[in-house]
Amino acid sequence: MSEPVSPRDQWSSRWVFVLAATGSAVGLGNIWKFPYIVGENGGGAFVLLYLFCVLFITLPIMMAEVLLGYLGKRDPIDTMAELAHRAGASRRWGVIGLSGVVAGFLILSYYSVIAGWTMAYIGHAAGGDFNGADVAQISGLFDDLLASPWRLLGWHSLFMVLTIAVVARGVRAGLEKALTILMPGLLLLLVALVLYAATTPAFAEGAAFLFKPDFSKLTASAVLVAMGHAFFTLSLGMGAIMIYGSYLPAGSSVARVSLVVALADTVIALLAGLAIFPLVFTHGLEPGQGPGLLFVTLPNAFAQIVGGQVVGCGFFLLMLFAAWSSAISLIEPAVAWMVERFGWSRLKAALVGGVIAWATGLLTVVSFNLAADFHPLGGSLTMFELIDFLTTNVMLPLGGVLIALFAGWRLLPADRIAAMADVPAVVVQLWLWSVRIVAPVAVLLVMVAAIASALQVPMPWE
Ligand code: PFF
Repeated sequence: MSEPVSPRDQWSSRWVFVLAATGSAVGLGNIWKFPYIVGENGGGAFVLLYLFCVLFITLPIMMAEVLLGYLGKRDPIDTMAELAHRAGASRRWGVIGLSGVVAGFLILSYYSVIAGWTMAYIGHAAGGDFNGADVAQISGLFDDLLASPWRLLGWHSLFMVLTIAVVARGVRAGLEKALTILMPGLLLLLVALVLYAATTPAFAEGAAFLFKPDFSKLTASAVLVAMGHAFFTLSLGMGAIMIYGSYLPAGSSVARVSLVVALADTVIALLAGLAIFPLVFTHGLEPGQGPGLLFVTLPNAFAQIVGGQVVGCGFFLLMLFAAWSSAISLIEPAVAWMVERFGWSRLKAALVGGVIAWATGLLTVVSFNLAADFHPLGGSLTMFELIDFLTTNVMLPLGGVLIALFAGWRLLPADRIAAMADVPAVVVQLWLWSVRIVAPVAVLLVMVAAIASALQVPMPWE
């Protein structure tokens, strides 16, 4: 394989990769989305299903994605094309990278709007707006924010500027520096919140909701949601982890770093659940209230506790950092592609990418107000919900399956063997089984079942 045209950035060590990939994985998905989809889907049984998906489907795919990036050492489009070419297959495999770039723009478009809510809430917390407020006043703050396209647009634009600023600065000077401070801080704050939650009267109830399965609450669509989230939360299926893998220094253990990242992400999601549900139950709130769970529930707790202003401010600030470190990875595959393919400066590539994602984000901004009643497919989904559904539940799983199939069936065995030399043979065999057969079949089955259930077509086992 020919060498990439220009010398590429690299993480200073594999531990920085772990930090960066964890920064990508841990984001709004863990702190905002995971708790609310657990709430909507009835708790423990859904959590089990999700853990099952991570272990048997997405962890092996994560190893595949890191492996491909590590071997390809380019942006995801050219990595896929080159590795395919090298194995005697068509360069058209590059299309997987391309669909990843599109998914990245789509996800970032709404991710930035939600991250904007977080910024607005830093202002509320710092300004003492929650102090002594009652439940109705706190929900009112959220409703007012969503009702104002201009406020949403302002925060969305600011967040996009922050994202562009880091990406434009490059891998080491931008990302690496920020992450070494943000990630430990995030973890400390979450632990502090869990400890606080442990002192509330409903801690046991919250923990039981999270860990005690009630399978009667599971629906066919919950299975799709759990699987989609297992992709979303690990940033899989769109080249983000692949591009980060491409910056791994030589001699890194692909399997080990993947395992650590998946584990860290899962632990943080569970901690977020443990911090949030006890507060939900303590304040007599509804766990299934959807996307507002975090922006309405937590402030209710901050309203009551001593020092709530500081804790609230810190919480939303760190949530912003979590979103920020993920947003960067959403746009990095496209930026790396523009830089490596067209020879653009990082600044130009980051600006072009950022503007595309920003403009697409306008669809989400108006989904909460001006176009709240616009349902493009005629069902109940707004444009925001449709983009979220399409990316999380369709594009990421399909992208992930193609990456898995490629790594399992197409990649030159010599490449794979060299990169996995440190892994016990039995683990490599298990991984191969998973990426060749188990993960693709499981993902396709879940998708077919979910589509059939949406169209109300009975499945053979029904
Ligand atoms: N993993 C991120 C989260 O859980 O918030 C979201 C995400 C980031 C998805 C990067 C996909 C991605 F490529």
